[in-house]
Amino acid sequence: MVGQDWEIAVVALVIGCVLLVLVRELEKPTTELSTRVHEYESRVSTRVEQTLGGIRAVQAFGREALESTRFAKQANESLKANLRLTLLQTASQSGVAVLFACGTAAIIWVTARRVLAGQLSPGDIVLMVGYTALLFKPLETLSYTASSIQGSVAGAHRVFEILDKKPLISDSPHATAIKTPVQGKIEFERVTFGYQPDQKVLDGVDLTIPAGTSVAMVGPSGAGKTTLASLILRFYDPVHGRILLDGRDLRDITLASLRRQIAIVPQEPVLFDVSIHENIAYSRPEATLEDVHAAARAAGAWDFIQALPAGFDTVIGERGVMLSGGQRQRLSLARAFLKDARIVVLDEPTTGLDAQTEADVLSALRRLMAGRTTIIIAHHLHTVRYVDQIIVLQGGALIQTGTHNQLLQQDGLYRQLYNLQYQPQMQPAEVP
Ligand SMILES: Nc1ncnc2c1ncn2[C@@H]1O[C@H](COP(=O)(O)OP(=O)(O)OP(=O)(O)O)[C@@H](O)[C@H]1O
Ligand SMILES: [Mg+2]
Repeated sequence: MVGQDWEIAVVALVIGCVLLVLVRELEKPTTELSTRVHEYESRVSTRVEQTLGGIRAVQAFGREALESTRFAKQANESLKANLRLTLLQTASQSGVAVLFACGTAAIIWVTARRVLAGQLSPGDIVLMVGYTALLFKPLETLSYTASSIQGSVAGAHRVFEILDKKPLISDSPHATAIKTPVQGKIEFERVTFGYQPDQKVLDGVDLTIPAGTSVAMVGPSGAGKTTLASLILRFYDPVHGRILLDGRDLRDITLASLRRQIAIVPQEPVLFDVSIHENIAYSRPEATLEDVHAAARAAGAWDFIQALPAGFDTVIGERGVMLSGGQRQRLSLARAFLKDARIVVLDEPTTGLDAQTEADVLSALRRLMAGRTTIIIAHHLHTVRYVDQIIVLQGGALIQTGTHNQLLQQDGLYRQLYNLQYQPQMQPAEVP
């Protein structure tokens, strides 16, 4: 083009530059709008998931209309954001197309004037238009590609935000793995902890659990029992003080090797939408069929599993919805039995069980506890009679320690709780 006529080349280049500037200028608003579209879409799917997950509560409290309105509002926001993005993309593509057409027209006009002046031949018009197309076409393609790249960049940005999040708890650089099975002595030294900086859920807890012994934690709801148990698994680190396992600070032990030593029955059973066999074997995937069956028997789950149409192969639905509360609890227990760990943490393991099953499970639990360090949290005090040590937590502080008989002799919270539970003749008016 420059060889033919440099002025025409300059006109073409100027128009090319305007195209490039346009693409660059549109980058920011397109990325922003794409990010917003992703955000609104994820809000809509979160709402759908929550509402469908809690569909029974929605129906029971007659909140269908409220949930529909909320969903419609969020879906509408998402729709509007999508429309705005589509409008911007359409407008920018139209702009590029118009620029492209105007540019071509300008080149034809300039070249035609040259032809009329006799400086160029008519055939040169065709040649120049061809050259212009060769120059503009890649720029136009680039502008379309840029717009779709910006959408993906916004998505990738959100993904990396999550991937780059530092986990709250991770291995410290000098942490080492536990090689041999632990003895299981656990010590809490002036452990203070809160979920928020100014909150004290545990306040200066001192506690020693000798290896192979059992300790029960009792106390009012919200006293910090589950929190204390979760510190042993290092779901959180103490704010002050430290926790030792066989004399080693938990923070000096690699997380994976620490958690391998501990079997837990959480307060709420956590089950997956896979077969019963896989749910139990979750704690030890390499376990044999016999081991899984033995664990199910020990947890009192054998009979109900056998009564299911596909037995151990029955798939139990999301979070185990196809089972009763007590059945879910027993699968969670079977999982802990199977793990065969030195340390066992049981957070209210017998809630949701009928009296007979509870008695069976308790006797199985006593067998499980033998020779292992066991931490058992319980509201029903008959479940804790046989432990070596009972601790009473109140408002995050350890207020009483001793055996069942020792604590009954003291005038304290334990005796109050005991009297409340075992004096059914008490009239409601007398309950403090
Ligand atoms: N993930 C969390 N984030 C913020 N606060 C929490 C969290 N979990 C518990 N808490 C607070 O910590 C306190 C102790 O809770 P925790 O679950 O340890 O009680 P608990 O003794 O196990 O009670 P319960 O007998 O009802 O199970 C409560 O006041 C609770 O509100
Ligand atoms: Mg709890």
